Amino acid sequence: MVLVLTPLRLALAALGALALSVPPAGAADTPDPAADAKAFRNYFVRKFPNVKLEEFVNGPYALNQDMHRQWEEKEQFPPYEFSLEMGKEMFAMPFGNGKGYADCFPNQGIGIRQNYPYFDNKEGKVVTLELALNRCREANGEPALSYVEDEMAALTAYMAFTSRGKPFDIRIPDDPRALEAYQNGKRYFYARRGQLNFSCATCHVQNPGERMRAEVLAPALGILNAMPIYRSEWGGMGTISRRFTTCNSQIRGVPLDPQDEEYRDLEYYLSYVSNGLPISGPGARP
Ligand code: HEC
Repeated sequence: MVLVLTPLRLALAALGALALSVPPAGAADTPDPAADAKAFRNYFVRKFPNVKLEEFVNGPYALNQDMHRQWEEKEQFPPYEFSLEMGKEMFAMPFGNGKGYADCFPNQGIGIRQNYPYFDNKEGKVVTLELALNRCREANGEPALSYVEDEMAALTAYMAFTSRGKPFDIRIPDDPRALEAYQNGKRYFYARRGQLNFSCATCHVQNPGERMRAEVLAPALGILNAMPIYRSEWGGMGTISRRFTTCNSQIRGVPLDPQDEEYRDLEYYLSYVSNGLPISGPGARP
């Protein structure tokens, strides 16, 4: 595993202190999410001056011309098509009590992906789309779905698809708990962990565009806009929950439970700093 990561290690060494000295997070003591988001975006725009802002939502494909061509070819016969169909059917299928998903969401669940996750003032916590879908099921007497398997991926694929092109619009309400959730997600993103002592940022902020094994690391800007994502390596679709737990395992860390509060805060942070970038999901990767 350590050997496998060698190119990345080399890249890190080459970037050295320089990369480490310009974290886009900023060093301000008072949290300022709007300033964070601006600095975050500027960092990527400067690092990749040839990539158009709205292209960042295409992950690794945004960073490399050959891969971009592959992406265009893939989009003609998208491998997520099956999942999308399944999600559409599932979404329309009434629960045992006659109600459906549409009854649980604003605008009947259509074109709303860009508003998730949101901070729930009553509960004082972040609510993601995956969590809201399971809460909807449970409120209607249906068992919760696994957060890392095909059905949840299919439902979120359909909901993303109906929201394509809509810019992320994540709000941080005037509530100290919301700001704390954001800060907590940010801390999680930049904290080093696992046997390899990597943070999320080590790979997705300092080394996007670098190869790790056969994969090209996606930039953290717009990294959730294409979720859920089909991966050939998985032979199927992966939810945000699946991606977070997989990335934690990759650094030989112990993943949290899907939808753990920390992961929800992390999703809140990562979505907020991509505000304004369009939803592009579902996506497909090599
Ligand atoms: C050791 C490097 C590494 C670390 C650390 C890492 N990831 Fe990843 N991540 C990858 C690889 C490899 C992929 C698959 C290729 C790609 O799309 O970037 C990936 C993909 C992703 C994707 C899907 C992006 C896309 O467009 O396909 C998300 C979202 C993501 N990671 C989030 C995270 C988060 C959040 C953390 C911290 C908990 C994290 N990653 C830590 C290596 C890493």
